[in-house]
Amino acid sequence: MEEIANRKSQIANLRTAVIGVGSLGQHHARNYAEIAQTGETELVGVCDSNEENARAVAEKNNCDYFTDWRELLDKVDAVSIVTPTETHAPIACAFLDKGVNVLVEKPIAKTLAEADLMIEAAEKSGAKLMVGHLERFNPAMVALRPFVTKPLYFEIHRVSPFPNRSLDVDVVLDVMIHDLDAVQWLVGESVKVSEIHAVGIPVISDKVDAANARIEFENGAVANITASRIGTEKIRKTRFYQTNGYVVLDYATKFASVTSLAPNAIHPLLGINVNRLEIVDIEPLRAEIEAFINSIVQDKMPPVTAHDGRRALSLALGVLEKIDEHARKVFPE
Ligand SMILES: NC(=O)c1ccc[n+]([C@@H]2O[C@H](COP(=O)([O-])OP(=O)(O)OC[C@H]3O[C@@H](n4cnc5c(N)ncnc54)[C@H](O)[C@@H]3O)[C@@H](O)[C@H]2O)c1
Repeated sequence: MEEIANRKSQIANLRTAVIGVGSLGQHHARNYAEIAQTGETELVGVCDSNEENARAVAEKNNCDYFTDWRELLDKVDAVSIVTPTETHAPIACAFLDKGVNVLVEKPIAKTLAEADLMIEAAEKSGAKLMVGHLERFNPAMVALRPFVTKPLYFEIHRVSPFPNRSLDVDVVLDVMIHDLDAVQWLVGESVKVSEIHAVGIPVISDKVDAANARIEFENGAVANITASRIGTEKIRKTRFYQTNGYVVLDYATKFASVTSLAPNAIHPLLGINVNRLEIVDIEPLRAEIEAFINSIVQDKMPPVTAHDGRRALSLALGVLEKIDEHARKVFPE
């Protein structure tokens, strides 16, 4: 009883912080500050090795700022880690070791070995470890998810103008990983990948800037995914076919529809029904952070687990391996 009471009082004032408040982390901080207004959580502070960033975001959100995340280890119950990918594992492990719950941005880490260390640390301390695969919280995806049956063929495009950020990773780990996670989630977490074909090229940076991958699953599902960060427009479109249905999902415009033969249609051309799904327009990051907090408060599995994050990373690394293989064939030394 006492244990439950202690847990409740700890949760009643869940102390939160954000590590890394650059282009994405500042929005984590804003959301934690807004959520704190309910009185159930508190934004203790933000941390950034760039003091100017840290101070500016702290001022906006009315909290303390730090330039060394170690100072927060004993001050918080939950953190978002929104630093460059190569720093995820050491920072996350230090917080997890202390029993602090962690929401780490995608990709979970740079290598599978690092991801395993994070999973081990979470399992040891019992702290929650969630991965920020944000598209799962996009209102269009949330509306669509209940209508997904057995997708068999995906055609996916994710194109952006050159970002001048996240250049520590290639386009596969930076953005294609969103679609790799979504496809695996929709096909089924336990369905194994049987084959990967991929091609990719560095165009503007020294890493792969544009890539195409064909992922084949053991159950016969196939996904054709194109990701580019050197486009002239922003495209975030997924189309897929499932038995008796054609699905369109646009993350950018938050649109989802399912096209199928209308019930009792006598002639297919006369009986096509396009069901434009109703969207509840919530900021995806807000939904993601609330889901993280709920998983702590209700002591349940986070909706995107560390194993999901590891699976997406493993798939992305598999795509990169195939891109390398293809490049060696095309440009033999
Ligand atoms: N889920 C998504 O849709 C999405 C979108 C963008 C970025 N991301 C991920 O978020 C992470 C950050 O990306 P970003 O675009 O915000 O990068 P960014 O470079 O804009 O910001 C990173 C910040 O971390 C700070 N930092 C670096 N090392 C630090 C350390 N050791 N301690 C404290 N602060 C440190 C930097 O000073 C910088 O302000 C990456 O992992 C990226 O893949 C996810």
